[in-house]
Amino acid sequence: MVTETGTTPEQPLPHNIPHHVAIIMDGNGRWAEARGLPRRAGHEAGTENLRRVIRAAVEFGVKILTIYAFSTENWNRPRWEVRALLHILENVIDRELDELNAEGVQLRHLGEPDRLPVKLQQKVRHAIELTRNNDRLILNIAFNYGGRDEIVRAVRRIIADGLPPEAITEDVISRYLYTAGLPDPDLIIRTSGELRISNFLLWQGAYAEYYATPTLWPDFDREEFRKALIDYCQRERRFGALAPPESAS
Ligand code: FPP
Repeated sequence: MVTETGTTPEQPLPHNIPHHVAIIMDGNGRWAEARGLPRRAGHEAGTENLRRVIRAAVEFGVKILTIYAFSTENWNRPRWEVRALLHILENVIDRELDELNAEGVQLRHLGEPDRLPVKLQQKVRHAIELTRNNDRLILNIAFNYGGRDEIVRAVRRIIADGLPPEAITEDVISRYLYTAGLPDPDLIIRTSGELRISNFLLWQGAYAEYYATPTLWPDFDREEFRKALIDYCQRERRFGALAPPESAS
């Protein structure tokens, strides 16, 4: 069917869209290089795109969106680039917080705040506090985040809390992670064609579905996001078990 404007109408999304989507936003640098621009311009374009993807997540009914913005390994990048990424996080909070709050987005931080500049730590705390009762979308920003580091810190806290060995279960460990209280990601997307997990949600991603696309992050638009969700909806998730029998007659 073709509409009056000559476009084909969009098919509605299936009902089983993922509740929790996590994204490794990769390819900002290559996007900039391909245009003869400095890497910083790639991160700025990536930030613009993040606004589009957050909007699309709300529109599509995704309830939790987790984005990998800065890893514990990213401190090894040149100083100017680290500073630029810290600056981008500060700008996002300064410029977008009111709108995100008005849209019902709850902001959370995954990672250790201690290595961030003190002023930025305060802004992050304020953003979390201001949006804590919002429930349209939970936006987890993984910043100074590493999956192994998260598990090490969880183990240290479990020991410090004096839990005996027999009390340690998968549920207990989950409760000591940054994502405590949240369901695991259903879908993890990585842009830019790389096929690595890069220390992202190592524990939580145990049974996530993975989706990789060659599209660079600044170009991963609403349509690309929709495609990833549809791909997910067509998969059969077994969580290590067998497929249910066709009919139990
Ligand atoms: C990886 O691309 C991307 C990052 C390390 C940063 C991602 C940050 C944003 C998209 C901006 C939004 C940020 C915040 C803080 C909300 P890359 O630079 O490794 O690209 P390359 O592999 O092509 O060099």
